[in-house]
Amino acid sequence: MRISVIGCGYLGAVHAACMAELGHDVVGIDVDPAKVALLSQGRAPFHEPGFEEVLRRNVEAGQLRFSTDFADLAGAQVHFVGVGTPQVQGGYAADLTYVRDAFRSLLPFLGEHPDGPMLVVGKSTVPVGTAASLAAQVRPTGAHLVWNPEFLREGFAVQDTITPDRIVYGLPADPAAADAAREVLDTVYARLLEQDIPRLVTDYATAELVKVAANSFLATKISFINAMAELCEATGADVTQLAEAIGYDDRIGRKFLRAGIGFGGGCLPKDIRAFMARAGELGVDQALTFLREVDSINDRRRDHIVNLAREGLGGTFENKTVAVLGAAFKPDSDDMRNSPALDIAARIAGEGATVVITDPAAGPRLQAERPSANVAPDAHAAAAGADVVLLLTEWQQFKNLDPATLKDVVTTPWIIDGRNALDPATWRAAGWTYTGIGRP
Ligand code: UGA
Repeated sequence: MRISVIGCGYLGAVHAACMAELGHDVVGIDVDPAKVALLSQGRAPFHEPGFEEVLRRNVEAGQLRFSTDFADLAGAQVHFVGVGTPQVQGGYAADLTYVRDAFRSLLPFLGEHPDGPMLVVGKSTVPVGTAASLAAQVRPTGAHLVWNPEFLREGFAVQDTITPDRIVYGLPADPAAADAAREVLDTVYARLLEQDIPRLVTDYATAELVKVAANSFLATKISFINAMAELCEATGADVTQLAEAIGYDDRIGRKFLRAGIGFGGGCLPKDIRAFMARAGELGVDQALTFLREVDSINDRRRDHIVNLAREGLGGTFENKTVAVLGAAFKPDSDDMRNSPALDIAARIAGEGATVVITDPAAGPRLQAERPSANVAPDAHAAAAGADVVLLLTEWQQFKNLDPATLKDVVTTPWIIDGRNALDPATWRAAGWTYTGIGRP
């Protein structure tokens, strides 16, 4: 099928490449000429394991093109919209500017298609009610709108797109339109549906809510275990053992119970805030008051690390050197949007410390975006002369560090493991003071 994907960020670029991988003829549209130029050469504009191979293979095979010109999507039967919906400046709500712009640019190209009904497929995370209002714009063109939320995780984006654990179609209310739309989208995803991946068919509102409900649940799970970490810190208990023990109950599950410096990124933090803002508009803000607490617990973890480090350094960061391992919001990504690691590093630098930061993927980007940052090429270079080392993003490279050789380069062998990613016994045996999160 001929497909367009509007928006070539983490979501759209991976979706475009994966649709080509499934055998479709795909054009990706983005307003950023630099990004389009890189993608057109088969080069990934961001770090995502496995993505560049899929991208290059399909660009070289002529199955995948990129352009800044909307006119290049003419001829496609299915148009995916995967642009960003960041948090508005000065508020909690989602900024729908990019979604509205994308639809405005797309509308003139919608109409009859020789191969069957034309489809617009919304993938962006939007406040409930958005799809219904966009459908009113799309309907007069004869095309149908489906809301098809995306659940991919950065770091596993290709795998999650090719083998998602479920697919959700939010379909139009009109039964004939719904049938036509479902049939076209089933053809797009035929190879996924053959693998028995569950496909749930809902209305627009449910599909929009599924996405934010899922991210809210994940954020709640992380904040729950971080709240337990606070209790463990007050009592001398060990949150890693607590998480393991409750996780064996499969009603609870072991995943997403890693206590640490909390969640960040371009999704969880802004999605729970946009959800609260939307609930307020709908007059049901009380239903989501708990998310305010989820957000506060998350923020407190960042404060906690800063306080721990300051206390251990004698009450001030002045004239101290702090090594920060990790800048990305999670390992296997170079995404620094709302990164807990970067936030903590900035707070500590703001209190007068010399902060040296390293990250295998995000380091070069950080240096380019903030030339004044002290970015080191690796952990040993970052830790040279450090009074304390903070492990804030649990890259495998950092988990594999040899405490004995790292000890040789620091001023004081003290590590704060903000992700509970290291084995305390090994580090202590090598002569380090080890401080974890919610563990003695
Ligand atoms: C999240 C969701 O997991 C995806 O399902 C969703 O599609 C995506 O948002 C989105 O809305 O686009 P992602 O932002 O890539 O995916 O990252 P996660 O793996 O969810 O991690 C989010 C944050 O939580 C990271 O900072 C991570 O370090 C932190 N985290 C995760 C913890 O602190 N503890 C855990 O146990 C798990």
